[in-house]
Amino acid sequence: MRKTILTGDRPTGPLHLGHYVGSLQSRVDLQHEYATYVLIADLQALTDHAEQPELVRRNVLEVALDYLAVGIDPTVATIVVQSGVPELAELTVYYLNLVTVARLGRNPTVKDEMRQKGFDADVPAGFLVYPVSQAADITAFKADVVPVGEDQLPMIEQTVEIVRRFNRLYSPVLVEPQPLLSEAPLIPGADGRKMSKSLDNYVGVRDEPDEIREKVRTFITDPQKIRLGDPGRPEICPIFALHKLFSAPDRVRWIDENCRSGALGCVENKMNLADRIIEYYEPFRERRANLDATPGIVDEVLAEGAAKVQPVVEETMKAVRHAMNLA
Ligand code: TRP
Repeated sequence: MRKTILTGDRPTGPLHLGHYVGSLQSRVDLQHEYATYVLIADLQALTDHAEQPELVRRNVLEVALDYLAVGIDPTVATIVVQSGVPELAELTVYYLNLVTVARLGRNPTVKDEMRQKGFDADVPAGFLVYPVSQAADITAFKADVVPVGEDQLPMIEQTVEIVRRFNRLYSPVLVEPQPLLSEAPLIPGADGRKMSKSLDNYVGVRDEPDEIREKVRTFITDPQKIRLGDPGRPEICPIFALHKLFSAPDRVRWIDENCRSGALGCVENKMNLADRIIEYYEPFRERRANLDATPGIVDEVLAEGAAKVQPVVEETMKAVRHAMNLA
């Protein structure tokens, strides 16, 4: 039997290069190896966007389009919208009894996010418990493997704790998941910090060639390299970090040498990078154009996804309710 993987994203904004290099690209490969579910986690997005349900809804559709455009194949993988599977909320309620508030407060990723969002004591209860809802996602689909970045490891740890507690307490019906840690390096954005939507320092996966050139132009480089001829330090340059991902190895070596010697200017180097990204995106643009020419396709894919997961989730729920002596 093929193993099952679950990956997911919160639909709060467009997917960008950081997502692509960090996870979308590997999902496109893994979908042929594993039974693959890709979750658009709109309930999780609402835990810190409760006041903007329209934004979340709009992004559900955008994220789905981005998935299809980058090559997630809905005839191979299953794309699911979280709110389309109400059992996930039911399962979350059961799991909440197996976790303490103190344990939730110690989740390092949740702690970081709370600090970033300035929640302090005013954290929405739903946000504090989102790792539990993520445990519901993972176990409902019986995922064996969850591909993650470093920041999501605590979610898998909490899921494993819940699974073990449930299986010991009631009956061993839940599958214990394993993380599959992404090898992707940190992707820097325009300001040199990690590329992210909230820092608005990203290149989106659906950006048009002109936008890509414009955004790449705004990236910082070595601040000591001011004009052509000044020697640069590729190791601290975000543009160089991206070249390592998108340019051929001999080209990367050439850039390294010519940046250090000063012969290569930052503007030229940026425009070459923009061209590589544009070239790399070509198949995305083609798929996107086909999708745009097929109205209703996204709704169709999402409806199919919801139908495909129903029997899997129903099987989990039956076993869970039975183990817990519930109706
Ligand atoms: N927490 C993930 C993120 O912020 C999204 C997510 C929700 C997820 N449910 C999941 C990821 C289940 C993997 C498996 O990106």
